Amino acid sequence: MNKTKILEKITDLSSKYSATGQDLYSYLDGLLISDYINYWNYINLETLLSIQQPKTDFPDENIFIIYHQITELYFKLCLLELEQINENGRLVLPSGEDKGWNKKINVNLFIEKMIRLNRYFKNLIDSFEIMINGMEKDQFLKFRMALLPSSGFQSAQFRMMELRSTQLSFLTNTKKSLKNPQYKNIYWKSGANEMKTGTKTYTLKQFEKKYDPELIKLSTKMKGKNLLEKYLSLSKKDQANSQLVNLLKEYDYNFNIHWKLAHYKSAAKYLKIKNKRVAATGGTNWEEYLPPRFQKIIFFPNLWSKEERNQWGRKWVESINI
Ligand code: HEM
Repeated sequence: MNKTKILEKITDLSSKYSATGQDLYSYLDGLLISDYINYWNYINLETLLSIQQPKTDFPDENIFIIYHQITELYFKLCLLELEQINENGRLVLPSGEDKGWNKKINVNLFIEKMIRLNRYFKNLIDSFEIMINGMEKDQFLKFRMALLPSSGFQSAQFRMMELRSTQLSFLTNTKKSLKNPQYKNIYWKSGANEMKTGTKTYTLKQFEKKYDPELIKLSTKMKGKNLLEKYLSLSKKDQANSQLVNLLKEYDYNFNIHWKLAHYKSAAKYLKIKNKRVAATGGTNWEEYLPPRFQKIIFFPNLWSKEERNQWGRKWVESINI
């Protein structure tokens, strides 16, 4: 390496450290004695591979755990993008200078984030085969008994994505709550209910106890900041951007129809025997609750025609014969 270039770098580094009253010389000493970074430490590989702790000896339980973990990591990727849209995108200059959050979302950034969200969801939908066809049914039916009453229903990240995506009124399922949406009427409170009595299962009660305070806070924080409202805050010209409109619709469809149907297929495959339902995690109402055509959750209803809203979740259901 050319010596003049190295000196230039040292001068730049020196100004960087002296700007915060620090001494580059001590940092150079640290650099001399520090070890090279390696792959396994950087990504915490050993920790990652040690967090699969099956409750039984059935080998396929590992698939079940690992796929849930993979999905939660994808949810985390989605939340990273959603958070940036909610907060208008953090502006970091190429020099590394952090200018904080922008005042307004920019349409190009919005488009880029939506492309990423749809890419993550596409991977999740395509990979759901790992659940639907990738485990032995007999093994699943046995090891799942050791996991009661836990359920993917208790995924807080899934709920965070919903609250970050649309306004509360589109997540609540009573007509009255459209005018005065309240967290207590959120649609998922009608899931994980006892099949026989319609009362809340322990699965739901446990989830509420752990996450309700945090989710209520988030639902308030997202007023005016959720994806839908960020879209509506754009100029009329940007709102009409057909690429953005299509990406938002694709996300709505991926989240509220495609993913939910891929997931529903796995519930139907394992929890139904010859058209009779096997008591799900704690004997829940999953068959009435899970299908998108019953839930009818639409993040951006105004982007769809009346006919499309009426047909929500139906077409695909017919095509996969559920
Ligand atoms: C064989 C695989 C699976 C089966 C049989 C299954 C079964 C179920 C059932 C029956 C429910 C309804 C709630 C309940 O009654 O417990 C549910 C909800 C849910 N599960 Fe799964 N699940 C599977 C895989 C997954 C995976 C891999 C994830 C990823 C995190 C997941 C996430 C969820 C979520 C987010 C809900 C709530 C969905 C909603 O509110 O619309 N599940 N699951």
